[in-house]
Amino acid sequence: MKVVVTGAAGFIGSNLVHHWLERHPDDELTAVDALTYAGRRESVADLEGRARFELKVADIADAAAMTEALRGAELVLHLAAETHNDRAIADPLPFVRTNVLGTAVLLEACRKGDVRRFHHVSTDEVYGSLGLEEPRRFTEESPYRPRGPYSSSKAASDHLVRAWHETYGLPVTISNCGNNFGPYQHPEKFVPRAITSLLRGESVPLYGDGRNVRDWIYVADHCEALELIARRGRSGSTYLVSAENELANRDLVARLAARLGRGPEVVRPVPDRLGHDRRYALDPSRLREELGWRPRVGLDEALDRTVRWYRDNPRWWSPLVGEAR
Ligand SMILES: NC(=O)c1ccc[n+]([C@@H]2O[C@H](COP(=O)([O-])OP(=O)(O)OC[C@H]3O[C@@H](n4cnc5c(N)ncnc54)[C@H](O)[C@@H]3O)[C@@H](O)[C@H]2O)c1
Repeated sequence: MKVVVTGAAGFIGSNLVHHWLERHPDDELTAVDALTYAGRRESVADLEGRARFELKVADIADAAAMTEALRGAELVLHLAAETHNDRAIADPLPFVRTNVLGTAVLLEACRKGDVRRFHHVSTDEVYGSLGLEEPRRFTEESPYRPRGPYSSSKAASDHLVRAWHETYGLPVTISNCGNNFGPYQHPEKFVPRAITSLLRGESVPLYGDGRNVRDWIYVADHCEALELIARRGRSGSTYLVSAENELANRDLVARLAARLGRGPEVVRPVPDRLGHDRRYALDPSRLREELGWRPRVGLDEALDRTVRWYRDNPRWWSPLVGEAR
């Protein structure tokens, strides 16, 4: 089977292509990535040269390139996106172009080809923000209430995917996941930013009061869920992916700091992000009950593995630290 993964040189994409080829070594995998500042060829370099792997450097908004990349593909896993909230606030239009227009271009290429499943990777941020005290979590039926340029561009892309399913009968699935962490994540993001600061003996910047809560998941668990949904999920359905690890940002920094022999003095409070969502939390019951998914790696083990990976791979992240700061 030919599988196309967009955004394959990014954080989750590079983890996913390794995951996929370990489990399905006979599949032909085409990795599509524009290699923006967030895409790193190094993250898939060990796969280049393999007979059944190809990295196509292309923009998902380029219709001719996508028609070519998707020729003969049965499954498309769509992860390419602009993803960093702070960048979206400073300069939102690239987010609209890639996340909205780029997704529409891909959907059109799928519709004209012979794609049997388009799986769209999205975020919990499309549902808006929850209060710290309310017990509620988001479900697949929660209304869309995105509050920022990144989340609203992802929400728009989710709507487009549903529209291509309803209008043209394209077989699709959508997953919305919480905050991932693990190897190959750009140090502009929260967890690697904290770890790399700690490894360099620097303070760790923390927005506002540090009490914002995120629903954390180890990237390998997310990849397993993506594989399961793309292969066995019901066409037209959405699945929420959560390992049910709700944690405040300041508590997560404390856990990371403790692993590197540091205490609360490492925190440097910085002015809050504009429109900063307070809390995200997802109910993954559908994914558990319909597809039997369970996270395999506990939070502490996942944090240990992630700290170890950054400690062992400074050559991967050191060149990125300047631009991330
Ligand atoms: N990281 C998370 O916590 C998280 C959580 C939920 C959902 N998601 C979603 O998962 C997907 C992957 O996220 P990530 O954290 O790996 O992001 P990332 O920023 O690490 O990677 C994105 C990749 O997309 C590529 N890309 C960007 N614009 C492109 C374009 N126009 N054409 C082709 N490639 C392009 C980049 O080069 C990069 O390799 C995104 O769709 C994101 O919205 C991420």
